[in-house]
Amino acid sequence: MSAVFHKYDTVIIGSGLAGLRAALEASRHGSVAVLAKLYPTRCHSTAAQGGIAASLGNEEPDNPEWHFYDTAKGGDFLGDQDAIEVMCEDAIRTVVELEHMGVPFSRTREGKIAQRRFGGHTREFGRAPVRRACYSADRTGHAIVFALYEQCMLQKVEFFPEFHVFDIVIDSGRCHGVVAMEIETGRIHAFSARATLVASGGYGRVFKTTSNAHASTGDCLSILLNRGIPLEDMEFFQFHPTGLYGLGILITEGARGEGGILINGKGERFMEHYAPTIKDLAPRDMVSRAILMEVREGRGIDGKDYVHLDLTHIPRKIIEERLPEISTFCKIYIGIDPSEEPIPVLPTAHYAMGGIPTDVDGRVLRNEKGDTVEGLYAAGECACVSIHGANRLGCNSLLDTVVFGRRAGKAIGVDTRGGEPGRIPSDVIDKVTEEIDSLLNSKGKERIGNLRASMQRQMMEHCSVFRTEEHLSGLIKTLNELKDRAQDIGLADRSKRFNTELLEAVELRHLINLAEAIAPLCSAEDRKQRSTLQRGLSQKG
Ligand code: FUM
Repeated sequence: MSAVFHKYDTVIIGSGLAGLRAALEASRHGSVAVLAKLYPTRCHSTAAQGGIAASLGNEEPDNPEWHFYDTAKGGDFLGDQDAIEVMCEDAIRTVVELEHMGVPFSRTREGKIAQRRFGGHTREFGRAPVRRACYSADRTGHAIVFALYEQCMLQKVEFFPEFHVFDIVIDSGRCHGVVAMEIETGRIHAFSARATLVASGGYGRVFKTTSNAHASTGDCLSILLNRGIPLEDMEFFQFHPTGLYGLGILITEGARGEGGILINGKGERFMEHYAPTIKDLAPRDMVSRAILMEVREGRGIDGKDYVHLDLTHIPRKIIEERLPEISTFCKIYIGIDPSEEPIPVLPTAHYAMGGIPTDVDGRVLRNEKGDTVEGLYAAGECACVSIHGANRLGCNSLLDTVVFGRRAGKAIGVDTRGGEPGRIPSDVIDKVTEEIDSLLNSKGKERIGNLRASMQRQMMEHCSVFRTEEHLSGLIKTLNELKDRAQDIGLADRSKRFNTELLEAVELRHLINLAEAIAPLCSAEDRKQRSTLQRGLSQKG
């Protein structure tokens, strides 16, 4: 079957918030195609619950400088402070713009955009919590995705739903476009472009317990790594403190913003000991560590490995109005009404701070000197502008996607004006076809499910909130073995149409590749030696 060829000014991989916002901007300068592994509005951005950060000051005094300080401090001062300034300074304009595009934000009595508290959001440089999270109940990501999707429709952005990317073509320091499979038919498509933007989201599926969607497998990061593009800060993976116990589904930090508290097996509000000033609203790394310390020291509920998130003192009306989504999750998945009973929670793998290195305009960097790859851009969770340092604050991810998605779209318009179109050589397409055929014809013994479960379990046990030298070195050996075994996968489904087993095999290889990038002992060692800020738990609280 021969490949289908397309030519666009800009090709965007991923239909989440970063991809949509960039598409909207780039479409003012030329033709845009958006490739999505799922149906576009099923992107993982729709799972973002609690809010988008902006110091509007609608509920109490706030300003971008306090937002900047919290972001830099929350990330243990390992973020790029110039980039953090860019984001925090643009936050207010960004949220107002989203409102004008039709995002149905929740409102105050006077009709302003409502704001609530979130972990690590403070006034006067850590003095007390502040209401900075702008929200649409607990479906904020969903609300913004639909508004931006509509705007893209108006701008005639073209969507290619259920297209799985197999390669990003880079030749002689320039990106030429993308080779992808149309999942429905198994047909190969080549998209050549002046600019390619990777906005393909995170890779939480390397861990057993995660709030991330099944599609969050980091394919494009792994493809770029294989193509020689460096990845930055991969050892920084965030665990959200309140995943639904046993399932990992996100229970928004907005629940604590509305007054929810964490309770251990002795009935104590234990965060008072770890972060006396902001307690349950401390940054996520602190709260996740605190929960696991309580569990390790035998103070989980009934001595088990979870704690309670208690919302029972919050009026039912508030829960129904502001937290309907998590309330429904609790009822459906564990048969609990959070107005009546506390929710069992445990940290869940949530967000990758690391990713494809970029400048503040989304241009991909290929070395420490800051040289860029012509025609290649990245934005959103897959990118590392280095805003979040070692720990992202809640609500800064939606902000990051929209601020830097827009900036990347603008930069594409300027950088590629009058530039040469991309060129996809036939040997690249042949290679992709060979990769697919070799999997379809393989007589391998290994089964995807076994290898994936093993990798996820190992990552959870040895590379989650607490990491030690001993655990990491054992893990690397295991991952190497899994990588070899993943070359011997055999498929039960050998058809070309909608072959999800084939795609899972490809995703698994990418996941193992990324697990290896997260786990290396050398980056952890390097951090240990370079860190000048040895910060204890209590210092941030
Ligand atoms: O807790 C939450 O609602 C998650 C928000 C975020 O990751 O920014």
